[in-house]
Amino acid sequence: MELLWHIISFVLIWTFLGTNASVFTFQNNCQDTIWPGTLSGSGKPLLNNGGFQLGPAESTTIDAPKGWSGRFWARSGCTFDQSGKGNCTTGDCGNVLQCNGAGGAPPVSLAEFTLDSPQDFYDVSLVDGYNMPISVVPSGGSGNCSEVKCVSDLNKECPQDLVVAGGNGATVACKSACLAFNEPQYCCSGEYNNPQVCKPSNYSQVFKKACPTSYSYPYDDATSTFTCSGANYLITFC
Ligand SMILES: *[C@@H]1O[C@H](CO)[C@@H](O)[C@H](O)[C@H]1NC(C)=O
Ligand SMILES: *[C@@H]1O[C@H](CO)[C@@H](O)[C@H](O)[C@H]1NC(C)=O
Ligand SMILES: *[C@@H]1O[C@H](CO)[C@@H](O)[C@H](O)[C@H]1NC(C)=O
Repeated sequence: MELLWHIISFVLIWTFLGTNASVFTFQNNCQDTIWPGTLSGSGKPLLNNGGFQLGPAESTTIDAPKGWSGRFWARSGCTFDQSGKGNCTTGDCGNVLQCNGAGGAPPVSLAEFTLDSPQDFYDVSLVDGYNMPISVVPSGGSGNCSEVKCVSDLNKECPQDLVVAGGNGATVACKSACLAFNEPQYCCSGEYNNPQVCKPSNYSQVFKKACPTSYSYPYDDATSTFTCSGANYLITFC
């Protein structure tokens, strides 16, 4: 009888854990304040109203419900007034602190998640370009659960024709070739909408070299998509 109770409580605990939310922890390792943004997949709840401020060395946690999907990025160089209106040098989501369902203007480095499907799928994407280093580190999960770290400062290595310059002339972000030239062979659109046809370009290879486990063009899945089950995730900027 006692053994039976052990088995029942074991099953109950695992069922409970299995329906638990994933916890995302956001850590700002940049020298400056950043403003992370969150965007949810269709029909999924918005997290933290879509955006928040994070000072240097600060961190914050957000619970995501089971089955959540969406993306995170960080905005730089923002100025917001008391009411949360203002704008950012990179990643702006429509002149507001709380993006509230709007995405970040590219180029931005993205961390993308689809939880419990049935595993968690995650990646770092530079398909729309790069604005700052971003890493995803799972903890407490089972499965492959690889760390995805894009820690190179690609703004320093950005090809000249992809550079986004800030007010003082410094490179603040690096466009993808698709964003810069909008051509099918870079965007994998039109007749290139096929992984056999759309190949890495000399531009995407610059991104891949800097961040080997991040998406550098749309069909970069084989080396850029990762899985884990029942994990929490640390998302680090810079
Ligand atoms: C940024 O916000 C300021 C203050 O709200 C405004 O004056 C300026 O026009 C905005 N710039 C852009 C590019 O939206
Ligand atoms: C885990 O993922 C990494 C990166 O994709 C891969 O190199 C490795 O072989 C995988 N390990 C297992 C056990 O699947
Ligand atoms: C990529 O190739 C194109 C066409 O050959 C060339 O114009 C461009 O400068 C190259 N860019 C890089 C970053 O190598």
